[in-house]
Amino acid sequence: MFSTPRFEYSKKILSDKISEVTSLKAPYGYTPRYAVKANTHPSIITIIDEGGIHFDASSSYEAMLLLSLGVSGEKIALSSQQSAHNLDELLEAGVRVAATSFKQLEMLLAAPHCPEKITVRINPDYGSGHNNRTSTGGTNASFGIWHEYIPEIVRLCATAGVKIDCVHIHVGSGAKPEIWAEVMDRCLKVLEAFPTATILNVGGGFKVHRFNTEEETDLATIFEIFTQKLTAFKTETNRSIHLEIEPGTYLVAHAGTLVATIDDIVDTGENGHTFIKLDTGMNDFLRTTMYGSQHKIEVMTDNTNEKPYVVVGHNCESGDIFTTVQYDQETIKPRLLKEAKIGDEVRIYDTGAYCASMRAKGYNAFPDAIEIMVA
Ligand SMILES: Cc1ncc(COP(=O)(O)O)c(C=O)c1O
Repeated sequence: MFSTPRFEYSKKILSDKISEVTSLKAPYGYTPRYAVKANTHPSIITIIDEGGIHFDASSSYEAMLLLSLGVSGEKIALSSQQSAHNLDELLEAGVRVAATSFKQLEMLLAAPHCPEKITVRINPDYGSGHNNRTSTGGTNASFGIWHEYIPEIVRLCATAGVKIDCVHIHVGSGAKPEIWAEVMDRCLKVLEAFPTATILNVGGGFKVHRFNTEEETDLATIFEIFTQKLTAFKTETNRSIHLEIEPGTYLVAHAGTLVATIDDIVDTGENGHTFIKLDTGMNDFLRTTMYGSQHKIEVMTDNTNEKPYVVVGHNCESGDIFTTVQYDQETIKPRLLKEAKIGDEVRIYDTGAYCASMRAKGYNAFPDAIEIMVA
């Protein structure tokens, strides 16, 4: 048996998600890209590559990781907050690099291997997400070039003799079809300002259900809306737009389970709480501390009694908590769980995305939870 803490990744769930995402259709072509920041485990990357999905990298280092794992450069698109540390190397490998700021645009246009057709990322003054930490559009977000500066982008590219072929707009996340209808309307409005563009990348952010009232995205319904809107755009402008999406969460979140052991149980008296302390914490799992995100937690015991517990991590931080009010990381909320004892195993579900890849790595010098693939 494997030790804890460990992330278990289900090949079956991952394969089902890959099949679902690759079977979607858009009227003038469609490329799904896996947002690799969600989970960089080499086996996951290989399975997704073999499943026919391309990749979205969010840093030049992620792009290098993909290349090192044998993903072909032509399948990688880079859209990064960071100026690439090795821009020309990536371009030479065939990586499609988006300019997400004027500095990046100037670097791209000046690069010896700058392609004839480039991608620009635009911030369209619209963001969706449950708080400022998850929204990547609008005036509070530094992602992409502000939409009012589009004429300057067009001027710089025309002077350099380069065509803008792809417009990238990722503005956050949601599950509701209405949000995606709005996103597509705004994207197509932006596209009007880029007459040479043939590809629209609407990013990722297709939310999944992990807890309570969270909704699961229905991608098929959203693609029906995308199809209607892209077809109407073709009728109005005679432009056939190839669609790209960049799901991270949607592909891998459900495939992961973080398995931990209860290291200790302490309480703070009659008016306090009973705390379950796990042999993992923010050094493996930061989503609650960062966003107040909640996940289903199960104590693996035959005991059928239930008790309210605050589940905490083993790091020397009072913010290292798994049970808070949803989306409010400041407020502890005890959770009714099966009555537990020290040594019981605990499973934290839907932890395939932004957990192992987004941990407070090295904190308190704890070793990383291991990651294994299971059937
Ligand atoms: C540009 C871009 N693409 C894709 C994603 C993936 O989002 P998700 O994992 O929510 O699908 C993100 C997430 O922040 C992003 O910034």
